[in-house]
Amino acid sequence: MKLSNKIVLVTGGTSGIGLEAAKLFREEGATVIIVGQNPDRLQSVAGQLGDSVTVLRGDVSKPAAVESIIKQISEKFGRIDVLFANAGMGLASPLEAVTEDQIDRQFDVNFKGVFFAIQKAAPLLAKGGSIIVTTSFLNEVGVPGLSILSATKAAVRSLVRSLGAEFAPRGIRVNAVSPGLTSTPFHGKLGLSEKQLNEAASAIGNRVPLHRFGEAGEIAKAALFLASDDSSFMTGSELVVDGGLTQI
Ligand SMILES: NC(=O)c1ccc[n+]([C@@H]2O[C@H](COP(=O)([O-])OP(=O)(O)OC[C@H]3O[C@@H](n4cnc5c(N)ncnc54)[C@H](OP(=O)(O)O)[C@@H]3O)[C@@H](O)[C@H]2O)c1
Repeated sequence: MKLSNKIVLVTGGTSGIGLEAAKLFREEGATVIIVGQNPDRLQSVAGQLGDSVTVLRGDVSKPAAVESIIKQISEKFGRIDVLFANAGMGLASPLEAVTEDQIDRQFDVNFKGVFFAIQKAAPLLAKGGSIIVTTSFLNEVGVPGLSILSATKAAVRSLVRSLGAEFAPRGIRVNAVSPGLTSTPFHGKLGLSEKQLNEAASAIGNRVPLHRFGEAGEIAKAALFLASDDSSFMTGSELVVDGGLTQI
């Protein structure tokens, strides 16, 4: 058991990578708290995972909501050992169609959501704690129509280095897991038609040396490595799990 007696918070734990990570962390002995915002998905996860996880509703793009979540965790559990700041979303749009609202929504969830989760959780984290942020292959490659999503992920990649430096004196590690194309509901929420989605998926998919999408469980295993003491000498790093897309 790699996470025995650990209190683990997973944002975006109701779907895809976060959900698989929450299941794996629980199997490894953690007490898991999941945050999402969609009430149906929260209910479905609570039904699937039962009493062994705590499910909290909150929009991570709102600092006050994040503060309220952390307060609830503080009152019930008193500390956080592992924070997996994974909640994210994207909106596809070519340069000429990008609006200010699209920029705000993506930065609010993907950057501010991560930043404030870390800031508000910081007082509850103790020596030996681990913070993991989900970045993306989009840090490293350019994809048409994904400029803003990619910029949010580059921003959080940078944050992992800066906050890694700030947390190091406290013995708390900060790392990123960087998924490649991964089979989750994420792509269906980009605002693309099915035809556009299929074309984009095959264009990027053809660039993956291992010739397939990743599975959410494969990213979850990397997150487990970063969460546990197996990665005790890593901080400020980004663990790339992308079938070679950005590496070969
Ligand atoms: N799938 C890929 O190909 C891929 C590739 C690279 C990086 N990533 C990153 O991986 C992470 C997880 O994505 P996924 O692929 O697992 O997608 P997903 O299945 O769509 O899951 C996204 C999760 O984030 C939550 N979320 C979104 N906005 C939120 C908000 N404002 N407040 C609280 N929770 C929010 C969702 O909850 P609700 O449903 O309740 O909104 C859901 O639980 C994201 O950061 C994404 O950018 C994914």
